[in-house]
Amino acid sequence: MSASDIRQKFLDFFGSRGHAIVPSASLVPENDPTTLFTGSGMQPLIPYLLGQAHPEGKRIANSQKCFRAEDIDEVGDNRHTTFFEMLGNWSFGDYWKQEQLPWLFEFLTKEIGLDPERLYVTVFSGGEGIGEDAESIAIWKKIFAEEKIPVEYAKMGSEEAGALRGMKRNERIFGYEKKNWWSRAGAPEKMPAGEPGGPDSEVFYEFTSVEHKPEFGMHCHPNCDCGRFLEIGNSVFMEYKKKEDGSFEKLAQRNVDFGGGLERITAASNDDPDIFEIDVFEPFRQIFIGEQESVRSARIIADHLRAATFLLADGVRPSNKGAGYVLRRIIRRAMIHSQKSTIKENLLALPKDILLRLLKEVIRIYGSAYKELPENQNAILVAFEQEMDKFNLTLQRGLREFDQRFPGMQAQDLKSGESYEPFVVGQKVGKGAFDLYQSFGIPREEIKELLENRLYVFDEYEFEDEFKKHQNLSRTASAGTFKGGLADHSEKVIRLHTAHHLLLKALQIVLGPHVKQRGSNITGERLRMDFSHDAKMTDGQKAEVERIVNEKIAEDLPVIRSEMPLEEAEKLGAEHEFGQKYPARVSVYSVGPKTATQKDPQFAKAFSIEFCGGPHVANTGKIGKFKFGKEEASSAGVRRVRGTLE
Ligand code: SER
Repeated sequence: MSASDIRQKFLDFFGSRGHAIVPSASLVPENDPTTLFTGSGMQPLIPYLLGQAHPEGKRIANSQKCFRAEDIDEVGDNRHTTFFEMLGNWSFGDYWKQEQLPWLFEFLTKEIGLDPERLYVTVFSGGEGIGEDAESIAIWKKIFAEEKIPVEYAKMGSEEAGALRGMKRNERIFGYEKKNWWSRAGAPEKMPAGEPGGPDSEVFYEFTSVEHKPEFGMHCHPNCDCGRFLEIGNSVFMEYKKKEDGSFEKLAQRNVDFGGGLERITAASNDDPDIFEIDVFEPFRQIFIGEQESVRSARIIADHLRAATFLLADGVRPSNKGAGYVLRRIIRRAMIHSQKSTIKENLLALPKDILLRLLKEVIRIYGSAYKELPENQNAILVAFEQEMDKFNLTLQRGLREFDQRFPGMQAQDLKSGESYEPFVVGQKVGKGAFDLYQSFGIPREEIKELLENRLYVFDEYEFEDEFKKHQNLSRTASAGTFKGGLADHSEKVIRLHTAHHLLLKALQIVLGPHVKQRGSNITGERLRMDFSHDAKMTDGQKAEVERIVNEKIAEDLPVIRSEMPLEEAEKLGAEHEFGQKYPARVSVYSVGPKTATQKDPQFAKAFSIEFCGGPHVANTGKIGKFKFGKEEASSAGVRRVRGTLE
């Protein structure tokens, strides 16, 4: 069955059971500053789960476009994608388990034709003061018994316990604790106050062609990652809300939130565990699979190009921050993977027309279900092509930088016995390689090869260390408030970022307290800040601002990160960008005084305090010398300044 057949059947099935069919919301959430993308079907529907009346009634069904950036690194196996369609049916305080589970079973077995023998289900085994989901267990027992399938319940608890215990004959229904609780934040203890969630019941399809592998655990069970069991749908019984004291209270209404990955259901209908074998990826298979040495690369290209097409259609454009940055990463990664041989010879001549053709195929395949694709075809293709051109330039710069940083002969020169630079031979390079990876996007394998051609030794451990440091920094950034505007987390950018905080304060000292940040953007070369002020700055003012920033750098003040509730940060008078919204808990960076420590940040004596996700240098002394750059009008009442480091 094709994905679009299944999508249509699902909407028809629930449509004929009283559900209004609603269009997918955008991949870019509206009025939700806490996430960059719509990553589940429930996200755009939260107000209705919390009790607001949905204009279309209490029963709706849809196919929601979803994008999960956090899965980027998983893409490449046979079942993970960043973009996917989530089939959803919803009861806003209307029907409950008794309707939901039999309907779902009927849809999967009668409409899609899945063999009931291959379906296994899981339910909430109890926890957090909420009991085992006995009601769902009883309903599932009845459903399987009617199919004459032996059915017994087994309580697993955790995944680890499941792997130790395995599955016994006749067992169909399995109870897990955390795995069978759903909220946007994950497990119950991770949920912030006010967040809705609840026990859920998942359906798994068994691919009997996949053998369990012991590296995934002693025994196989529905939540084992070996690939034999694939989750194809999740009915969340969303009836709880987290309270301030960490316990749960009932929501005003009982909701059903069903979500099923369309690509996965399609794969199950083909009885083929590889979701890249479903019809929508056909154009990619024609071009890459077989030709490409690596199936992994082909899957990454297929996933990333499809995702990029949908993101572009929803108005995201490649940039250095937020959603745009993620889009840039996936486009560039797809380009890199579309290269079959080494960077040096081929990367600068990308098969541009092939990638553009694939984008057109995505638009054609999805055009009737998602009109925004054909409607924006030109804009999508133009933006994609521009990004490809830009990346090629960046790579050229990166390769030049590589030549400068790592001079030396080529291996072939050495063989010819002519030139020899012994100090280079065997020299280890780790951090330097990471900088190139980080600033120019030259892939790790390519850097390794380039280095080895020049007889350096690629220091994998040091590279890995830097990589992890960077990952931690980015996690910090997304866990705290989203500062935005950072090109990356290279050393130069981080130094400029701290200088940016000093600059804002210096501007307030020199021009007055009306100065508020209105925008920021930092690249490896310079910082840029927009701020409210309605007159051109005089040369004297500029010189004074520059002097203050350099004075604070010379004082080598500690830079300290603290986390606190939003109101507390507001009370401290922490600076924030106009128009930004913040979550209930925020991260704040303070600079100075000299004696401040992590334990005792001495906010009252700090030179500057800002809402910020970081990262920053540990001490201002690391910044270097600051130079005030160009100053100009940005818009009415807003000035724009630039600054660099020497
Ligand atoms: N909210 C659940 C999920 O995303 C079901 O739709 O898995």
